[in-house]
Amino acid sequence: MARTPLKALALAAALVTGVAAHAGEVEVLHWWTSGGEAKAATALKGQMLKLGHTWRDFAVAGGGGDSAMTVLKSRVVSGNAPAAAQIKGPSIQEWAREGVLANIDDVAKANNWDALLPKPIADGLKYKGSYVAAPVNVHRVNWIWANPAVLAKAGVKLPTTWDEFFTAAEALKKAGVIPVAHGGQNWQDFTTFESVALGVGGVDFYKKALVQLDQGALKSPTMEKVLTTFKRIKDYTDRNAPGRDWNLATAMVINGQAGMQLMGDWAKGEFIAAGKVPGKDFVCAAAPGTAQAFTYNVDSFAMFRIKNEANVKAQKDLAAALVSPEFQEVFNLNKGSIPVRLNMDLSKFDDCAKLSANDFVASAKSGGLVPSIAHGMAVPSAAEGAIKDAVSQFWNSDRMSAKDAMERIASAARAQ
Ligand code: GAL
Repeated sequence: MARTPLKALALAAALVTGVAAHAGEVEVLHWWTSGGEAKAATALKGQMLKLGHTWRDFAVAGGGGDSAMTVLKSRVVSGNAPAAAQIKGPSIQEWAREGVLANIDDVAKANNWDALLPKPIADGLKYKGSYVAAPVNVHRVNWIWANPAVLAKAGVKLPTTWDEFFTAAEALKKAGVIPVAHGGQNWQDFTTFESVALGVGGVDFYKKALVQLDQGALKSPTMEKVLTTFKRIKDYTDRNAPGRDWNLATAMVINGQAGMQLMGDWAKGEFIAAGKVPGKDFVCAAAPGTAQAFTYNVDSFAMFRIKNEANVKAQKDLAAALVSPEFQEVFNLNKGSIPVRLNMDLSKFDDCAKLSANDFVASAKSGGLVPSIAHGMAVPSAAEGAIKDAVSQFWNSDRMSAKDAMERIASAARAQ
């Protein structure tokens, strides 16, 4: 067919402008709206603008991403998927099975992802052997954060065991501060719970109970001890905890209103965004009893099948940018996580990140590297949701015994 003059004009313009010829729009769904998270998301947007593309922000607030996932489902069902969405763990496979994700093997090959990413992580980003998602980081979930000035006021050190934790919590209470900053939302309860399960039960128990969902482990004296220890923490949280966002809990540690917080290292992003210095204004350590283990949470973006050619190009550029060394550095410095790309220079990273990177490698060797159930890395989303609800019911109830909770959690796991 002969070209219309208009098309010829557009072609000529494209040849002259180069980059703009391929400029497309990327719509990206994420839930990074807290101070540190927003800085990290802005780094991503900047990268896309640099490449000449347009960024359409699809941010759905809510830590842990439950609200974002609900909104995403309705968008995809109505045939209007974004180019990319923050989807991770087994959910990537769930979405891929629906046939809505795009194959990005060409980007992965051109950028050597198979060699640059840890194999177990790369495998999780593939569906039937093809990449459908790109990773950005490795978050560690089993951390404890504290305000050292507040600890000093109470005469305690950062706890390394659960006994030390409760001793410290008691001393902080006596000193008139809130011992544990907590936000009573089910994903935050679950985040605390999994660190207790790892610390009290150990790696093998964690794997059996929370990764394999083994009924014997879920209904065991160890599980009862985990639940009892978990519930004891509640006595050291404040009355206003219910519903509080995680970053507001971190702010309580930042401003000295509270002593400690059990939270993944996106919390470090908040300390950093507030201009706080690691080792001086705040301190980090593995959650009590978990120094030899590492609960990982890898943020990744699944790519959806979209039609417009320029937008597909923008989507592929986004995927490539996510794994590039420049982006991995700037993003993770802001996000609190460590790069997912192997052999990165970590000289600009702080001691918490360096500890994380060391422990990631060491725990991978020792068998202590485990997926976070609370952050969608371990089990299918339906099982995660049901167990999470049971854990929060126990946390919130004055009457439920640890034995009852154990039964509920086990049956939630069985039902899936
Ligand atoms: C996690 C996510 C992190 C962080 C956190 C709080 O699930 O992996 O990137 O954003 O939620 O929102």
